[in-house]
Amino acid sequence: MALLEGSNLRKTYRLSRRTSVEALRGVDVSIDAGEMVAIMGPSGSGKSTLMHVLGLLHAPDRSGGPAPELRIAGSDAAGLRDRERTRTRAQSMGFVFQSFNLVPTLTAEENVALAAEYAGMRRSHVRVAAREALDTVGLAGRATHRPMELSGGEQQRVAIARALVNQPMILLGDEPTGNLDSARAAEILGVLRRFNRERGQTVVLVTHDPDVGGACDRIIRMRDGLIVPDDMRIGTAAAA
Ligand SMILES: Nc1ncnc2c1ncn2[C@@H]1O[C@H](COP(=O)(O)OP(=O)(O)OP(=O)(O)O)[C@@H](O)[C@H]1O
Ligand SMILES: [Mg+2]
Repeated sequence: MALLEGSNLRKTYRLSRRTSVEALRGVDVSIDAGEMVAIMGPSGSGKSTLMHVLGLLHAPDRSGGPAPELRIAGSDAAGLRDRERTRTRAQSMGFVFQSFNLVPTLTAEENVALAAEYAGMRRSHVRVAAREALDTVGLAGRATHRPMELSGGEQQRVAIARALVNQPMILLGDEPTGNLDSARAAEILGVLRRFNRERGQTVVLVTHDPDVGGACDRIIRMRDGLIVPDDMRIGTAAAA
């Protein structure tokens, strides 16, 4: 069953009255519940933009073409009001961004706990859940460090722990292993794969890393703001 379904997704960034960038030019996409999918494609092809739209962080354009549709577990998400969008995001989704967006004044544990509190987890459980999530990413020993006192890879793992702490239905990651060495990347990929297999969580990862793509069930390829259809890819491979 489709968990995330979008059609006619367009997103234009307007830089001035004359210049704009069409980051998404009419994307149709469907991701099944329990799938682990990679979104790949050249820099600037619209991967992060698509992830932000699927994650209800950016609304798709309503003008300039057919009406966009976005469904999460069958319910309309395109027409949600701000408050409902925020709630859906906090309760059903976990994000790992390209920039980690950790709060610099909070420790690793507090950063993870904040996401749990935000999603409405019981106070008494927050601390335990935060510790567990840090343990999952191999950072139990760094719980009291602030982001500045962590390496780039460690900060990335805190961000992953923060995304996992609520056991979200959908985990969206933008280059979640981008700053890690290959051993760490494989380890984190293993953590995500395990969450996906054991808990049936749907995982969507934007990545440049063919190893990450290869570990997923399916690769969605983007180019110039559009998804490259499967049959075109076969054609390209045959021609190459
Ligand atoms: N906030 C913004 N304002 C204006 N243009 C933007 C903005 N965000 C992205 N763009 C443009 O939209 C296009 C798609 O950007 P996006 O970030 O989705 O690409 P990407 O595939 O994630 O690239 P990368 O692999 O480099 O992260 C790019 O041409 C980019 O310059
Ligand atoms: Mg990007």
